[in-house]
Amino acid sequence: MEKEQLDTQLQPKSLPRIGEKAPEFKAITTQGEINFPSQYSGKWVILFSHPADFTPVCTSEFMTFANMEKRFNDANCQLVGLSVDGLYSHIAWLRTIKEKIQYKGMKDIEIKFPLIEDITMEVSGKYGMIQPGESNTKAVRAVFFIDPKGIIRAMIYYPLSTGRNFEELYRALIAMQTADAFSVATPADWQPGDEVIVPTAGSCGVAKERMEKKKDMKCYDWFFCTKKLSKEEIEKKIKIKKKKR
Ligand code: BEZ
Repeated sequence: MEKEQLDTQLQPKSLPRIGEKAPEFKAITTQGEINFPSQYSGKWVILFSHPADFTPVCTSEFMTFANMEKRFNDANCQLVGLSVDGLYSHIAWLRTIKEKIQYKGMKDIEIKFPLIEDITMEVSGKYGMIQPGESNTKAVRAVFFIDPKGIIRAMIYYPLSTGRNFEELYRALIAMQTADAFSVATPADWQPGDEVIVPTAGSCGVAKERMEKKKDMKCYDWFFCTKKLSKEEIEKKIKIKKKKR
C-alpha cells in the first residue's frame, strides 16, 4: 500500500474530543473480552496506549502504573491498556515483567488490569492513537480519562520517546472528581488540600459583595476567588478509600 493511502486509512474521521461520548468497541484483552465503555458504567476509567511490548520506556510505565493501580481503584477508577501487539506478545511481555524485571525498587509486579490486543488498529484508529507523523505502525502514548457516564473528560498524548508521569494522571483524576463533587475548579499545580477556585460571580459588584460576606473566601480580584477545601472533605465526598496507616 502507498504511504499516502496508509496514512489516510490510519487517520480517524475525527479525533475524539473532550465532552463527547467515548467511542465504543469490543476487544480481546489479557483479562478476557471487554465491552467498552459500557462495562465500566458508574466508574471512571483510564484507557491508555503504549507503542510496543518488550520496549524499555513502556516497561517502566507498566511497572509504575501497575504499582499504583490500587490507588486508582480506590478512587473508583479502572485502568485499561492497549497496544497494536497481539495477545500472545502481551502475555509473554507481562510474564517477563513479573518474573524478571526489577526496576526502581519494584519487583514481582503483576499487571492485573486488561491489556487490549489491537493488531487490526481498529480501537487505536477510533481513538486517534496512531499518529503517522510519529509512527505508522505503533500507537503514541495516549491517555483518555472517561467518566462514570462514558464521557471523555481529558486526553493526553505523548510521543514515543517520553514516559508519562503517573502521579500527574492520579492528580488530574482527583482534580476532575473534586471539580464534579464540589462545583469548583482547581488552580495550577493543585494538590488535594490546597485551596480551590470558586466559580466567577459574574460581575465586579457581586464579587465585592461576596468578598465582604464570605470570610472563608480569598479574592485576588473580582474574577479570581479561592476557598479552603480540606483533603478529608474531598476523601469523604468522593469516597476515596484511605490507606491503612
Ligand atoms: C519504548 O517504550 O522504549 C519505546 C517504544 C517505541 C519507540 C521508542 C521507545
